[in-house]
Amino acid sequence: MPSASTITLNSPLDMHLHLRDGDMLQNIAKESAKTFSGGIIMPNLVPPVCTKEEVVAYRARIRDAIGDETFIPYMTLFFKPEYDHAFLESLREEITAIKLYPAGITTNSEGGVSGFDIETLRPALEAMSDLAIPLCIHGETNGFVMDREAEFVPIYEKLAQAFPKLKIIMEHITTKASVDALERFENLYATITLHHLLITLDDVAGGMLQPHLFCKPIAKRPEDREALLQAALSAHPKVMFGSDSAPHPREAKEACGCAAGVFTAPIALQVLAELFAKHGAIENLPDFISNNAQRIYGITPPAKKIILEEKPFTVPTSYGGVVPMYAGETIDYSIREVMDG
Ligand code: DOR
Ligand code: ZN
Repeated sequence: MPSASTITLNSPLDMHLHLRDGDMLQNIAKESAKTFSGGIIMPNLVPPVCTKEEVVAYRARIRDAIGDETFIPYMTLFFKPEYDHAFLESLREEITAIKLYPAGITTNSEGGVSGFDIETLRPALEAMSDLAIPLCIHGETNGFVMDREAEFVPIYEKLAQAFPKLKIIMEHITTKASVDALERFENLYATITLHHLLITLDDVAGGMLQPHLFCKPIAKRPEDREALLQAALSAHPKVMFGSDSAPHPREAKEACGCAAGVFTAPIALQVLAELFAKHGAIENLPDFISNNAQRIYGITPPAKKIILEEKPFTVPTSYGGVVPMYAGETIDYSIREVMDG
């Protein structure tokens, strides 16, 4: 029987996940599939996932990498303004959402959207609204790095207003401005990562530069982190966990020209348990980690029980050549058992 120092989570979901492709996919997919019940899979491959055939083939490669773990890859398409109703209808059953990147804003986003002219975007967004396909957005302008997300908030609002039936998910929010925007439009939702609940820009660049904490959007100010933390810990009904776990090979991170992304998949649940327990909010973790996402997306993930226990776990320094957050450090919670069904 689990003791008092254990926490049981049902069907955790990672609503923003990079699984990559090829050898990297083979190396890291299981780190999510072991402990999560499903995840929204980002489409920023090279080339990006833009057709039904590409979605179907990528899902098959993910399933192959996962083996017999119980895990649903909820697939996404890389947004293009030219998608029309007939095209989207033809692949509606294959995807759970569509991800929009501003052109060139982050890893492999060169084919994204330039300018946010509502009339240019209208046919595709109206079709999505009609087909009830949620729109996930990487919301950053190409302005000053600390202001990019806040500058994007008016664009979120313009889209939310123009397409009131379209569910818009503000991905990996990092600012108080984004948390506040949730209250203004019914159809705005958000994901929050683990690392943005824990770090500020000081942790990335305040001392020796920490390449493994460098990501986009960059971590912001203490008051921003506080707003995110309050939203997560209070189980804000429009907020979901999305790790944005984004593996890059060690040599691409420890380089002149460091790739953006924090690899958190193997430690996400343990550290979230520790964080919520420390703040006396453990009863709200199920909403943040699964229930809100199920309601917002209308999905029912496979049953899976994760039992975490308060027992030190020393994080490996590398997973197949990728350095995780807390590499070599000891965290307070461990995975004790995973049960399907
Ligand atoms: O830090 C990031 N890494 N932010 C993103 O938006 C993309 C991601 C990646 O794919 O590496
Ligand atoms: Zn991402």
